[in-house]
Amino acid sequence: MTKYWSPSSWRDCPIVQVPTYPDEKSLKVTEEKLAQVPPLVFAGEVRQLKKQLAKVAKGKAFILQGGDCAEAFESNKPDIIRDTFKLFLQMAVTLTWGAKMPIIKVGRMAGQYAKPRSSDTEIIDGVELPSYRGDIINGFSPTQEERQPDPERMLEAYYKAASTLNLLRAFAQGGFANLEKVHRWNLDFVKDPATASRFSHIASRLDETLDFMRACGIRPGNVQQLTETEFYVSHEALLLSYEEGMTRKDSLTDDWYNTSAHMVWIGERTRQLDHAHIEYCSGIANPVGMKVGPTLGADELLQLVDKLNPENESGKLVLIARMGAKRLKEHLPSLIHKLQKEGRNVIWTCDPMHANTFKSSTGYKTRSFDKILEEVQAFFDVHSQCGSYAGGVHFEMTGMDVTECIGGSHDVTEEDLHSRYHTACDPRLNARQSLELAFLLAQELEESQR
Ligand code: PEP
Ligand code: CO
Repeated sequence: MTKYWSPSSWRDCPIVQVPTYPDEKSLKVTEEKLAQVPPLVFAGEVRQLKKQLAKVAKGKAFILQGGDCAEAFESNKPDIIRDTFKLFLQMAVTLTWGAKMPIIKVGRMAGQYAKPRSSDTEIIDGVELPSYRGDIINGFSPTQEERQPDPERMLEAYYKAASTLNLLRAFAQGGFANLEKVHRWNLDFVKDPATASRFSHIASRLDETLDFMRACGIRPGNVQQLTETEFYVSHEALLLSYEEGMTRKDSLTDDWYNTSAHMVWIGERTRQLDHAHIEYCSGIANPVGMKVGPTLGADELLQLVDKLNPENESGKLVLIARMGAKRLKEHLPSLIHKLQKEGRNVIWTCDPMHANTFKSSTGYKTRSFDKILEEVQAFFDVHSQCGSYAGGVHFEMTGMDVTECIGGSHDVTEEDLHSRYHTACDPRLNARQSLELAFLLAQELEESQR
């Protein structure tokens, strides 16, 4: 462990899940270029997110974090970004309606380009190739050349993230998110009566509420909270050369901020206490997430919490449980109790995706809607038993009409997976499945309010 933190102190720690770049000189040149580029987010926005998360810590708001498992450079297209943003808006309205509290929207967007892998190589058509580690590191195509880590991809990731974030900001603040336009957020393919009409029902009641406000002399079109929305972006802080390059000292506070995203998180495979990823994340002022899998013990968790949030700040640390329903029921209560007993301020959210992945009989990596739902349900139950707050959810989802996860009211089957399986990494919920989950969550939140 290093004594003094700096944006580069992680370089003195052991590290896993990093690519070996064949050309070190080119890596250095790219790192130097990154250190000169304009920040993507401003420290004031990060502080605003922290304020919102402090509300979550008090049980007065709820986090909806979601997006692709791995963003692909070739998916940097307006329609794809727009549809996932629309889905966020629909889910957030549905949840706000049920929970009657602010929903903090955090995209796995505009920078989610690096992936940890369980193996350094993979065999494709009998040929052993370096594993695909995300577009910021190497290419998806199964050739030796494409799979070579290339540092210049970091610059491309930066520019792609900048253009995604630019469009997201335009949508969030330019009128698209105006609640008076709620009917227009419907995605064309979500036509099945159950989901579409449930959303239309909420949308119509919302229209009535806005009419009522107009009748009372309030012009919703002039109320900023109704015409604009806050939208934050996040990604896994995995490729530390990139994260370090984007780290800047804020001139107002003298604190260090990662300016590539409002929030970053540490993955399940890189959260070793004395390792580089924890070291890097311990020194930035951004809210930080950490995945909590079934093997993490209570004592080690406490040490990690203290390293990542030494001031015990509220709204700073988000623990993202990802255990599978069964292990979660057995294991999560002891972790919650430990932190309660020690008086640590953390937010608990639920990632019901990463412990529920399996290979279908048709050969696709998939997840079942029912298992995802079961884990979310178990998460709420455990928090209710422990007297703690279930602060949010973390989904892999897309506004596209993909067939990557099985189940849901439209009942995607294992045989259907091949038809629109587009993910660059893990299977995502499609828009219909995501919205369906939002309805179930809204119900859960409504009940827990009572
Ligand atoms: C992810 O969020 O895509 C991921 C790899 O998760 P985990 O670190 O929990 O396995
Ligand atoms: Co994933």
